Amino acid sequence: MMSDALRDAMPLAEELIAIRRHLHRHPELSLEEKETAALVARELAKLGLGIRTGVGGHGVVADLKGALPGKTVALRADMDALPIQEETGLEFASERPGVMHACGHDAHTAILLGAAKLLAARADRLRGTVRFIFQPAEEINAGAKVMIAAGALDGVAEIYGLHNLPTLPAGKVATCAGPIMGSVDRLEIDIEGRGGHGAIPDQCIDPIVCASQIVLALQTIASRELSPFEPAVVTIGSLKAGEANNVIPHRAEMTGTIRTFDPRVKAAIPERVERLVRKIALAHRCRAEVRVIDQTPVLVNHAANARLVEEAVDGTIGAANRVAAVPTMAGEDFAVYLERVPGCFFWLGSGPAERAEEAYGLHHPKYVLNEDCIPLGAALLANIAVRALGGF
Ligand code: NI
Repeated sequence: MMSDALRDAMPLAEELIAIRRHLHRHPELSLEEKETAALVARELAKLGLGIRTGVGGHGVVADLKGALPGKTVALRADMDALPIQEETGLEFASERPGVMHACGHDAHTAILLGAAKLLAARADRLRGTVRFIFQPAEEINAGAKVMIAAGALDGVAEIYGLHNLPTLPAGKVATCAGPIMGSVDRLEIDIEGRGGHGAIPDQCIDPIVCASQIVLALQTIASRELSPFEPAVVTIGSLKAGEANNVIPHRAEMTGTIRTFDPRVKAAIPERVERLVRKIALAHRCRAEVRVIDQTPVLVNHAANARLVEEAVDGTIGAANRVAAVPTMAGEDFAVYLERVPGCFFWLGSGPAERAEEAYGLHHPKYVLNEDCIPLGAALLANIAVRALGGF
């Protein structure tokens, strides 16, 4: 059974897939989305929308005003690609060496353009305004903040967005109320000791031994200081010190990432990191510098908006194709919008019909997207906007 929303979207499938493939062939890194933004603006101009370009870098914002008065509801897509060498062998694979749409933001852009086309065709019956937000620089957790600073959310009552998920078959959608994706903080630690001969440690202050103790101690934040029912991850992803086997170096440098699933836990972690690093450095006669750099909040879906999305999903593809989202510590800067206005983010299945759980994941050089999700995503976003504005 096919819903009206989906039936309207099917004739657009070919056009949207062509846009997606063009973007896939010509991916642009975060902060460099110039051609992508130009394509988006061209497509939106065809619909006669009021368009703002250059919003927070290469961001594009367009308003579709319905014939009837009402509030403003925003739909958002991200546009940037990743510094990955594509290995899919697709006929429309990236022509830019070392740059790939390995997170499917090409599809997100095409999907939101599709929603704009669907909604523009029904503007005479629309109650209120739909704002389309095409965001740059999601992969570096920067785009949402600068677009908000540039006014992208001004006057917006609610916001909705999606991310494709290759381990969920196309045709299925996953969401939930409350937290759905983790917070992201960047961690940087510099340890300064006193270098010297590896055979004469008593005349040196060894930053490597100190750094090693710190790496282990940081693991006790999750295991000893937080409740087992409050998930958190502290990962040290780089540790650099020394060049020679018989020399104690002067410095050690570490970087890491901190993930949590609750804003209160996120707020409580920097003090713990700083205390452990400083006291352990002191115990080892080293000097320490710690920087916990706030990047992305926990992505928390608002209950009423999650319910609205669930109803839209059920009305578009049937409740049997809606599943509860599996929580992930991966981050997504859509969370920044949700700190300011209510809304909901959901996963759009983009995997194969069979054995999707074995598909290459997001950010993999062999990641491929099942394009069946593109017209479906467009129909869903359009349906969500109509419902959020109070229906026809
Ligand atoms: Ni992504």
